[in-house]
Amino acid sequence: MPRDLAAAIRELSRERRAVILAHYYQDDAIQDVADFIGDSLELSRKAASTDADVIVFCGVHFMAETAKILNPGKTVLLPDLEAGCSLADACPADGFAAFRAEHPEHIVVSYINCSAAVKAQSDLICTSSNAVDLVQQLPADQPILFAPDQNLGRWVQRQSGRELTLWPGSCIVHETFSEQALLQLQLEHPDAEVLAHPECQQHLLDLADYIGSTSKLLHRAATSPAQELIVLTEPGILHQMRKAAPTKTFFEVPGADGCSCNSCPYMRLNTLEKLWRCLRDLSPAIELDESIRQRALMPIQRMLEMSR
Ligand code: 13P
Ligand code: SF4
Repeated sequence: MPRDLAAAIRELSRERRAVILAHYYQDDAIQDVADFIGDSLELSRKAASTDADVIVFCGVHFMAETAKILNPGKTVLLPDLEAGCSLADACPADGFAAFRAEHPEHIVVSYINCSAAVKAQSDLICTSSNAVDLVQQLPADQPILFAPDQNLGRWVQRQSGRELTLWPGSCIVHETFSEQALLQLQLEHPDAEVLAHPECQQHLLDLADYIGSTSKLLHRAATSPAQELIVLTEPGILHQMRKAAPTKTFFEVPGADGCSCNSCPYMRLNTLEKLWRCLRDLSPAIELDESIRQRALMPIQRMLEMSR
């Protein structure tokens, strides 16, 4: 294995005419070697517009799958194929089909954190950065099914004033934050602003000063007048927050048992070494059934058209 993995990755990436896309929850070293870092919506936009031959997705499976849905002719690599997502796992395609059948009048809005087979059964895909806006664009009398994140769904309900029928999924990372630890941090740092991702449970969102997708939280961290910020999302985001606001102090909130389970175990499966290997071997690559891909493409394209 090369001694300077980052340099070797950059060189291989050039040779392969590849683009390396990374989510904010990736390890710092992966973020530093990526060509583009973003939230789920920005990464989808980038995947939709790239002219690279190879897309290396440093994120989780549903993200790489979305890139493949948008780019059937390109090689889309995921450094570790086991990098899944508890939300996608909590919403199997057959169970989702039965849920839809119980609500035939409903339009189906699915959070991008789901499998291609669930996207293929959806009318519209959303991310945490556009969910409220997209739901508000739907006709007022249109009943809506929202899957698979019930915490995000409840937040969208409160923000949009729309009634949503929710699939009962949740993110194992955002469900883990300790309210007690947050209250203790607020006591010790009374001027700190609390930033939270909408995948968090409502009792934590009720304590937040600002709620948004990872990119929105990053922007708020840089522009907020607060000098101290308590961050209720996966701590991978702190790398870019510290770069964007080097004089500010950031606090992560531990899990309920004081554990470090606020780190996404799926995102963290990707490593620099696996990234280098997948560029060298052009594997593991995402493969998709073409009929599912075509059906999954429509609601993603609708999202990209409706996102302002
Ligand atoms: P965003 O980057 O869209 O906020 O999503 C967060 C997340 O949980 C990705 O899995
Ligand atoms: Fe899925 Fe949660 Fe990990 Fe995001 S943080 S990839 S929603 S398990």
